[in-house]
Amino acid sequence: MDVFEAVRTRRSIRKYQEKPVETEKLVKILEAARLSPSANNNQPWHFIAVTDETVRKKLLPAYGRDWFVNAPAIIVACAEPSKGWSRQDGEDYWKVDVAIAMQTMVLAAHELGLGTCWVAAFKEDKVKEVLGIPEEIRVLAMTPLGYPAEQKGSVAERKQKEEIVHLDRW
Ligand SMILES: Cc1cc2nc3c(=O)[nH]c(=O)nc-3n(C[C@H](O)[C@H](O)[C@H](O)COP(=O)(O)O)c2cc1C
Repeated sequence: MDVFEAVRTRRSIRKYQEKPVETEKLVKILEAARLSPSANNNQPWHFIAVTDETVRKKLLPAYGRDWFVNAPAIIVACAEPSKGWSRQDGEDYWKVDVAIAMQTMVLAAHELGLGTCWVAAFKEDKVKEVLGIPEEIRVLAMTPLGYPAEQKGSVAERKQKEEIVHLDRW
């Protein structure tokens, strides 16, 4: 699958088969995150791969969706904000860095036949409690990971390019 094909056909998957994710695939996906670019190459990220069913189920109070905790794996994308690069005017880029790594993982997973779904609407304090994440670390996003148990068409509805692309100036 070429990159454009992956971008075009990836969809958020909210139903997963029980079949576990092979360790080699999980390692490859995490490697895709590790190789992602970050501002000033600061790499202010950590990733937690949760495969243990008991631990996954404990995440239910953090994000109350069965399809999420029932997926065979969950990847939790964390940031260490103090390690991130900031612009001179104080704009921080750690969220951008972790988001890039997350989306790189999402596309790598799709290439390997695995489904994902960005999840942001969780209770961060609960995730941190369950996974023993240190105080100074932020949890930016999570995704379930597994073989899809639902079929979706290519590309959810998007704005037309005329609405969002500007040539030479706004
Ligand atoms: C930053 C971000 C946060 C998201 N958070 C959630 C979430 O908490 N729960 C959820 O079900 N989907 C979440 N999504 C998935 C979006 O709803 C989905 O990407 C969007 O509707 C487009 O559909 P598609 O991914 O199938 O193309 C999130 C997506 C992004 C990029």
